[in-house]
Amino acid sequence: MDLQPVTSFFKKIQLLPFPIFNRQLTYTLSFLLPLLSLALLSLLASFFQPQFLLNISFFSQVLQNKHDLACDDSNGRWVWDENHPYYTEGCPFLDPGFRCHQNGRTDGDYYKWRWQPNGCDLPRFNASELLERSRNGRIVFAGDSIGRNQWESLVCMLAQGVANKSAIYEQNGKPITKHKGYLSIRFHDYNLTVEYYRVPFLVIIDRPPQNHSVQIKSAIRVDRLHWYSNKWVGADVLVFNAGHWWNQDKTVKMGCYFQEGNTLNMTMDVMEAFRRFLQTWKSWAIQNLDPEKSYIFFRSYSPVHYRDGTWKDGGRCDINVAPETNYTMLEPEPWNNRFISETIENMKDTMRGVQLLNITYLTEFRKDGHPSIHREPGTPVPFPQDCSHWCLPGVPDTWNEILYSHLLSKGYRTKNNQPTNMP
Ligand SMILES: *[C@@H]1O[C@H](CO)[C@@H](O)[C@H](O)[C@H]1NC(C)=O
Ligand SMILES: *[C@@H]1O[C@H](CO)[C@@H](O)[C@H](O)[C@H]1NC(C)=O
Ligand SMILES: *[C@@H]1O[C@H](CO)[C@@H](O)[C@H](O)[C@H]1NC(C)=O
Ligand SMILES: *[C@@H]1O[C@H](CO)[C@@H](O)[C@H](O)[C@H]1NC(C)=O
Ligand SMILES: *[C@@H]1O[C@H](CO)[C@@H](O)[C@H](O)[C@H]1NC(C)=O
Ligand SMILES: *[C@@H]1O[C@H](CO)[C@@H](O)[C@H](O)[C@H]1NC(C)=O
Ligand SMILES: *[C@@H]1O[C@H](CO)[C@@H](O)[C@H](O)[C@H]1NC(C)=O
Repeated sequence: MDLQPVTSFFKKIQLLPFPIFNRQLTYTLSFLLPLLSLALLSLLASFFQPQFLLNISFFSQVLQNKHDLACDDSNGRWVWDENHPYYTEGCPFLDPGFRCHQNGRTDGDYYKWRWQPNGCDLPRFNASELLERSRNGRIVFAGDSIGRNQWESLVCMLAQGVANKSAIYEQNGKPITKHKGYLSIRFHDYNLTVEYYRVPFLVIIDRPPQNHSVQIKSAIRVDRLHWYSNKWVGADVLVFNAGHWWNQDKTVKMGCYFQEGNTLNMTMDVMEAFRRFLQTWKSWAIQNLDPEKSYIFFRSYSPVHYRDGTWKDGGRCDINVAPETNYTMLEPEPWNNRFISETIENMKDTMRGVQLLNITYLTEFRKDGHPSIHREPGTPVPFPQDCSHWCLPGVPDTWNEILYSHLLSKGYRTKNNQPTNMP
């Protein structure tokens, strides 16, 4: 494979970090200075009070959070890395549809890339570390099949830290194939489950109200989170995602209209419905999740790479064996992301620690990571190419490295991260 274009391209963008660094430094300082003086004042003021110790832990928490501001891991570049991937396609928890070599793909560069953020390094994923911290815990993924992609990736990454693979199994003996419902992989020695809930819209899909006309097939109830949501309560890590089903083709054009209360709204468009669903998700999270116990993430949109057509009229991605190097080929920020990040910003007053897992930009480059024509055996011919899911090992491993990095920097389940009373 010819890496030349990649290398020279990245040389060019390596010039960029300097202004970015300066801006970030100024930003960090302008944020830290008032905080430091505030903390100093509060230290002085409370020196003779019994609350003194509480204030110190508050102070160190403020300093810990500095990391999040200083390092933006959403922006960077892909670099060649011989130390990837973390596991092989032989991982027993992989869906047949994601095993690209088994399905005929012969190139193997697509799992050799590592995401290098500007101005910081992602910690290398350490399965033992995450398993140890997750002991007696639950990690939950809820969303569409791209969420399943990320879930399988994490299960395989974690499985590397366990010598006895028979001590990892699906809790109810269900096979890891396409299915409806949910799967729960148990890491027996750690009393840990890593769960996936298939809920493409995250809300309830219902029969339409009684007197409906024939063109109405179902109702997407934007004001009611899915029944499964009661299983998500109490999990230690939650990773939500939604996006690929929130479009005109997979809703209104298929006769699935949006419902609020008892009325089906025949005019509500997908964007408005998505915005309202996020309000529902936000209220549910605030009412049901404990931010001191649960680490809550919403993953941003995972880009698709159909070229020369859409998924249903011959769009393809099978010619790609290396990441995109041409910036002008990258798509603009998807509208879903703006709504998701606004919702999370609005939650921050009531619920600290909810985090956008912003993987969109880095994933845009990875037109080489899809199964394309290498679909699972039994897919009816002629089938469209798959340029939305990801081969595993592959791109979702990077999303999980970023997830891991956030968990570490938030002090996920360490002794010094026990709930503190804010003074
Ligand atoms: C996600 O990250 C990219 C790259 O840093 C940035 O351009 C984009 O604005 C971010 N999106 C959101 C919703 O924060
Ligand atoms: C991974 O984490 C474990 C447990 O915290 C630690 O003992 C080990 O040294 C780490 N491995 C590496 C390569 O950092
Ligand atoms: C396993 O973890 C659950 C929490 O997920 C806890 O309630 C239970 O007591 C743990 N079991 C053991 C044997 O530690
Ligand atoms: C591996 O795990 C299985 C299931 O928990 C257990 O029955 C078996 O004894 C374990 N093997 C070893 C060598 O520990
Ligand atoms: C269905 O019934 C409700 C209440 O009886 C009414 O408001 C609505 O217009 C009816 N819808 C249709 C499509 O007939
Ligand atoms: C339908 O949704 C639109 C917003 O998309 C709203 O303006 C309108 O009032 C709603 N109609 C009903 C009957 O609730
Ligand atoms: C990048 O893509 C644009 C738009 O397709 C094209 O016009 C341009 O020639 C490409 N640049 C390179 C260096 O390939």
